[in-house]
Amino acid sequence: MSRRKGVHTMSSRSITLSVNGECRSFEASAETPLLYALRNDCGLNGPKFGCGLGECGACAVLVDGRAVRSCTVKLGAIAGRTVTTLEGLASGTDLHPVQQAFIDMQAAQCGYCLNGMVIATVALLRHKANPTEADIRAALRRHLCRCGTHLEILAAVRRARELLAETGHQQEASSAS
Ligand code: FES
Ligand code: FES
Repeated sequence: MSRRKGVHTMSSRSITLSVNGECRSFEASAETPLLYALRNDCGLNGPKFGCGLGECGACAVLVDGRAVRSCTVKLGAIAGRTVTTLEGLASGTDLHPVQQAFIDMQAAQCGYCLNGMVIATVALLRHKANPTEADIRAALRRHLCRCGTHLEILAAVRRARELLAETGHQQEASSAS
């Protein structure tokens, strides 16, 4: 069996997804992790490979608007669905308010966890426009940051909540699916 990094070419079939608003077809095994297809086939490096086990959250993307860990989602399980990555959040040159909030609060050191933090925040604010502190902590609880940037990240989520309230950006956030 020949394979690229995690993408099996034996028993491949064509699997079609919407990725950031574009229809993409993958000739791949149904078992291929979504993360590999996004990074290797689409060149989307927003989602990061951290643990590969669904534990760290670095690989998070939105599937039909819900945050998932793309290292554990098999392509065959989401055929025909809509995927949004970090790269798909902005509108042209306008950053998504959650992205802007993380910049405003300088909520990064190495930045490796930020993809997952931003995706989780977008998903949270879609679901609940005015989350409590407990809601925010619960949403990010299983996203690991090895740099210890947690306080700045929490501040960024609060800032995103403000920005979305100010700009009425919820509709755009809702369509990021
Ligand atoms: S790389 Fe997917 S959860 Fe860690
Ligand atoms: S900023 Fe480095 S892992 Fe979070």
